[in-house]
Amino acid sequence: MSNTVIEFNNVTKRYGSLTAVDAVTLSVAQGEYFALLGPNGAGKTTLVKMMLDFTRPTSGTISVNGISSTNTACRNAIGYLAENHRMPPHLSGRQYLQRCAELCGFSRREAAEQCDRSIERVGMREKEHSKASSYSKGMIQRFGLASALVGNAKLLILDEPTAGLDPIGIREMRLLLESLKGQGMTILLSSHLLSEVEKICDTAAIINKGKLMVKDSISSIIRDGETLEAVFVRLVKGLT
Ligand SMILES: Nc1ncnc2c1ncn2[C@@H]1O[C@H](COP(=O)(O)OP(=O)(O)OP(=O)(O)O)[C@@H](O)[C@H]1O
Ligand SMILES: [Mg+2]
Repeated sequence: MSNTVIEFNNVTKRYGSLTAVDAVTLSVAQGEYFALLGPNGAGKTTLVKMMLDFTRPTSGTISVNGISSTNTACRNAIGYLAENHRMPPHLSGRQYLQRCAELCGFSRREAAEQCDRSIERVGMREKEHSKASSYSKGMIQRFGLASALVGNAKLLILDEPTAGLDPIGIREMRLLLESLKGQGMTILLSSHLLSEVEKICDTAAIINKGKLMVKDSISSIIRDGETLEAVFVRLVKGLT
């Protein structure tokens, strides 16, 4: 498929006797909003970490835009918001983003332009000069999303971007992600908020104990009037 952005091919990851990811094959298409779902410990973050080459598969291969995940060039295309993202408390959001952009290889002036653009996109202009220690969890997540947007990546990997947010913060994150839709962005989103996933994502994969249980368009997964939550519980609990 020429419009495939991410490809996991028979990927297994073992930690000693534990199989964290078990022979997962799946692909994500360009422009897709893709939800990676599964209970705690299912293997979602491990899949993400392997994509970013933070850890390597025991077997199998991963590619992004046709480039192997083990090739550092692969990461140029990716914006990443880590699970439990934190910011140095003594830096302002702007200083943090400036450092992120300079670490990406931008000159000081280019980095400043990247900051402006990213801050604008996440609506944090008013707070850009306040220290991170004064930010709410929602603001920290917004700046985290801004850091993923630095470098103009067309692929975002967001590992639980709404973790710890209140209902307003959750809604704001959804609106932000929706605003990026149609700008050619592809998003792989790991989340436990199934009702949000239903609203934002096109496709979902449910993983349990490292195994891929289902991967389909959300409209196909919930076709019989079941909610995504009901399908999730049925698959994870092994009910028929
Ligand atoms: N570095 C590691 N060493 C040993 N085991 C690990 C390591 N990293 C993850 N695991 C184990 O691999 C399994 C999958 O973990 P992972 O973090 O990928 O789950 P997850 O789906 O992201 O869960 P959560 O929803 O809690 O974030 C878990 O059993 C976890 O304990
Ligand atoms: Mg995780």
